[in-house]
Amino acid sequence: MRSLSGIQPSGRLHLGNYFGAVRQFLALQEQGHECFYFIADYHALTSISDPKTLREATLHLATGYLALGIDPKRTVFFCQSDVPQVAELCWVLNCICPVSLMEKATSYKDKVAKGISASMGLLDYPVLQAADIVIYDSNVVPVGADQRQHLEITRDLAAKFNQVYGQTLVVPEAMIVPEVAVVPGIDGQKMSKSYNNAIEIFQSDKATAKRCGQIVTDSTPLEAPKDPDRCNVFALLKLLASPEELADIAGKYRAGGYGYGQAKGRLAELINQRFAPARQKYAELEKHPDTVADILREGGRKARQVAGATLQRVRSAVGIVT
Ligand code: ADP
Ligand code: TRP
Repeated sequence: MRSLSGIQPSGRLHLGNYFGAVRQFLALQEQGHECFYFIADYHALTSISDPKTLREATLHLATGYLALGIDPKRTVFFCQSDVPQVAELCWVLNCICPVSLMEKATSYKDKVAKGISASMGLLDYPVLQAADIVIYDSNVVPVGADQRQHLEITRDLAAKFNQVYGQTLVVPEAMIVPEVAVVPGIDGQKMSKSYNNAIEIFQSDKATAKRCGQIVTDSTPLEAPKDPDRCNVFALLKLLASPEELADIAGKYRAGGYGYGQAKGRLAELINQRFAPARQKYAELEKHPDTVADILREGGRKARQVAGATLQRVRSAVGIVT
């Protein structure tokens, strides 16, 4: 079974990325899947035009993935741009992709509504993603719920290619874990780099506590009973506390006399505990950017081998004479 996924280097890693995506990557790695995980730097070009920002975000993401447990001995870990075959496959898929399908894509419409310029790259984003996925003959794609439509488009394009040119591409399945499909941010909306509501993974204990202190809560006084199911702090505690502790905290909410401040303090402690080993590893890796670059280069080499074979099948299927 082959799993593949990508994260754009468009900001710093946050709890939504971890619980919605990276944790599943690690679980599949443990289960012995053949894993391909990559940094989607060509996708990030659709929203970032400053080279320094892109470079820094790429290095941060690579260091972060490794610190969180992506093991380059078991997983092919690489940069999308190290596999130019993906851009070639994207072109071939473009030629069977209706423009209307792209214009209707929710993430395209959302990004344009937010002010990102409607470039050809942004419109074509889902086709590049489809190429990313099918070029490695991926079976399973672990992602958050926001990627559901992109996976549907990928499946449509792979199936259409097979219908037009004969069985060539593997049609992949999305893997979306319902409980963590949408991790809320400090304002209760989906946590996202672009909504300025994220809790970053790689920051100090103190900065984490400060950020948790900013989680939006209602104005129920400390003594009054509170509803845990309508609280942004509790929603995040669900991801980090043990079932016993969670039941205990829910009881305290309902009984009254337990303040949001206490819940926020406990949440910060749990985040700091959970990510302490990864933060330590990050600090070590950060001192050796060359090691990180070597790992990506080696991953790129392995990824190109697989991608090259798929592209040969595709070229031959469509009638390109090589
Ligand atoms: P962002 O929204 O912060 O830009 P990305 O689009 O780079 O995040 O997402 C990278 C991965 O993390 C994707 O698989 C995405 O579905 C997942 N992800 C991001 N935010 C969340 C969230 N709040 N809840 C669940 N999964 C998320
Ligand atoms: N669009 C994905 C995101 O924003 C990133 C991505 C690019 C991706 N290529 C992919 C995810 C291939 C899964 C598979 O999160």
